[in-house]
Amino acid sequence: MVEEKGHPNGIDEQPATDAKPKAGEDLDHRVSRRKLLVTGVGVMSGAIAATVGVPAIFYVAGPAQEQGGEQDWIRLGTASSIETGTQTLMKATVERRAGYLTTTEELSVFVSTENGADFVALSNICTHLGCRVRWVDDQNAFFCPCHNAVFGPDGTVLEGPPPRPLDRFETKVEDGQIFIRRT
Ligand code: FES
Repeated sequence: MVEEKGHPNGIDEQPATDAKPKAGEDLDHRVSRRKLLVTGVGVMSGAIAATVGVPAIFYVAGPAQEQGGEQDWIRLGTASSIETGTQTLMKATVERRAGYLTTTEELSVFVSTENGADFVALSNICTHLGCRVRWVDDQNAFFCPCHNAVFGPDGTVLEGPPPRPLDRFETKVEDGQIFIRRT
């Protein structure tokens, strides 16, 4: 009769102390340590990237996110230079900022008044395809040379293909100067 060694259920029990890890267990520990190390490095890298990268992104992209940068009120000139009962063509230079790019635009506006106090300012750009309209005094109308559109003195379309009236600006007078702003 051969005496059986080990546990009666066939599982060898290792003593709690003085236990030498088996080869497989040692490998498991090393893999776990490696995983922990890789995870730790990954987390630290992410934290550093977030700390450095997020402000850098805002620094670079911030100005590009800014919309317009257009001057609010645009000064055209002295209000007293505008004749009553007709159209006076006035010009201004407008600065626009889009991201880091600043451009200037020459703006031409027809300004009219019936009483010297209330002013109407209309764009001289035809709303069809963008040609410049001109004012013909004796016909009391604006004409577009490109496709023969006609606009009334208030900018409404009288003839031709434009889909809408001439663009109108809000106006104000301060210290004798007339200002316009896009509506
Ligand atoms: S661009 Fe003015 S009518 Fe066509």
